Amino acid sequence: MRIDVLSIFPEYLAALDLSLIGKARQKGLLHIGVRDVRDFALDRHRTVDDTPYGGGAGMVMKPEPWAQALESVLEGAPEAQAGEADPRPVLIVPSPAGRVFDQAFAYELAEEPHLVFACGRYEGIDERVLDWAQERFRVMPVSLGDYVLNGGEVAVLAMVEAVGRLVPGVVGNPLSLVEESHSDGLLEYPVYTKPAEWRGHAVPEVLLSGNHAAIAEHRRHEQLRRTAERRPELLDGRSTADLSRSDLEVAESAGFAEADGVLTRRA
Ligand code: ADE
Repeated sequence: MRIDVLSIFPEYLAALDLSLIGKARQKGLLHIGVRDVRDFALDRHRTVDDTPYGGGAGMVMKPEPWAQALESVLEGAPEAQAGEADPRPVLIVPSPAGRVFDQAFAYELAEEPHLVFACGRYEGIDERVLDWAQERFRVMPVSLGDYVLNGGEVAVLAMVEAVGRLVPGVVGNPLSLVEESHSDGLLEYPVYTKPAEWRGHAVPEVLLSGNHAAIAEHRRHEQLRRTAERRPELLDGRSTADLSRSDLEVAESAGFAEADGVLTRRA
């Protein structure tokens, strides 16, 4: 997978050299390029921002440096594969005004051959850049969540890590992707390591039993309990088709009822 990141703070993206993502780059699984949008400024002061039309606080990023930076990414882009549904690369614009990023979206993006991230700063990028870019990119404003960061860089670090680790070969043991939080719509079960007794806290007995069926059931119940307590909205309306009798009992004791094949939060 090829990933291009455009930012006026390319140093922020240095973290993409570390750990699993850094190793994946070394192995050639991920090709990540970072460009400084200031290199595409038109004046000797390398100006990338200006005052907003209509007034208001803060500054807006000028359109022309962005257009040229985006064009530079396309110059080196691989040719579209024959039969590819939509050959335009995905252009992700991190913004608190975007659709919220989640694991399902991370899986979708992991199928793409080329992702481009445009990190806005200040009050954002001149909106016309996004309109202009539609012809060349599939433009997607994306938010990490309902809070405001100073710019898109931190959001890009999070998204590149979430997507990159789903690219085949990046995570050594693919089974670890199956069991983690959100992979099946539930939060992950709690984990423990040695010693079995630590500062008066014991590991749940069943985990020491060697009974794999009982362990799997216990973990599933913990997932349900935890999801009901911490993220009840994830369970509300969830189909009960894949829940066993004992799973349902756990959900019921955690405040849910079954009606017409779905879980519903009791008032
Ligand atoms: N830029 C500023 N705030 C953001 C957020 N919540 N998500 C993504 N990008 C952002």
